[in-house]
Amino acid sequence: MNNFASDGPDHEVAQLILESIPNPVIMINNESTVLYINRSMEVFLKADRDAILGKSLVEALYKGQTQNRRVGFRSPLLETILTGREFTYQPVEIKTIYNLVPRSMLVSTFLIKEGKGKIKGACAFFYDNVHDWKHIRPTVAPSSHLETVYAFAEAIGARDCYTMGHSEKVAEYSRLIAERMGMDQQTVDLAYMCGVVHDVGKIGIPEEILNKKSPLSSEEYKLIMGHSIMGASILSHISWLEDIIPVIEAHHEKFNGTGYPRGLKGDEIPLLSRILAVSDAFDAMTSDRSYRKAFPLEKALDELVRNAGIQFDPTIVDIFIEMLKEYAQ
Ligand SMILES: [Fe+2]
Repeated sequence: MNNFASDGPDHEVAQLILESIPNPVIMINNESTVLYINRSMEVFLKADRDAILGKSLVEALYKGQTQNRRVGFRSPLLETILTGREFTYQPVEIKTIYNLVPRSMLVSTFLIKEGKGKIKGACAFFYDNVHDWKHIRPTVAPSSHLETVYAFAEAIGARDCYTMGHSEKVAEYSRLIAERMGMDQQTVDLAYMCGVVHDVGKIGIPEEILNKKSPLSSEEYKLIMGHSIMGASILSHISWLEDIIPVIEAHHEKFNGTGYPRGLKGDEIPLLSRILAVSDAFDAMTSDRSYRKAFPLEKALDELVRNAGIQFDPTIVDIFIEMLKEYAQ
């Protein structure tokens, strides 16, 4: 029976839909072999589907480890096929061989059954977007507050795709560092929000300067340096964001006092700004930019260590590196 008002067979239409939706989707059979991943999943993983299709899910994405001590099952999809437990909008941390640290996502999984109820496999449907974050921790702040932060994220992304993806990663790294430092949930969430909006002041900088491949003139550099104050000033119009403002203003201060805008030193720099500085630099180094290719991971880590106590708070560098090493295991 054809369930579609179309000339094509069902599976062609279904495939077109799956390929077009923004949510990452992955499907396995009951032996956990990957049958399908859609384009959004490829983009999320930054991996080619040919490297994954037809392989065992655990081998292709999880180094052969079904579970680990920290999170139990490494993949909610695997848990579904092995235990029959299905998830609906479940917050999960996904850490595959393709990402350095876990990504917070929401997942729904379900078993795929034949007519008589025989299980053929399982499918996972992910929600991978800063906008979905409000479903993960709806109690942290009134949703209208979070929506304001997403609006800023959107405004930044509309101008500059690098900044949008960058801000989300900085937010995620900052959240993980804050968690690891034992901060309370409210501060951990604040660290995430600071990451999302930290470069909002770049809205005031012409795109040709932001994306310039040749060296900047001193005037242009001055303009770019103004983005931390500009960001704080934009956010100052929203009263409930007052805790974020000093953090954003100080996110380019350096631990030895040679940063901007105020030349703050050591503990004078807000702790969340010191966290942002490490997350921001690490993501910038490990991403392709208009003027250079991404650094290899080892080089980026060496740079963090080399600049510990100079640009960065050495304690935070230690925590971050220890965290990355642990996730790499
Ligand atoms: Fe910045």
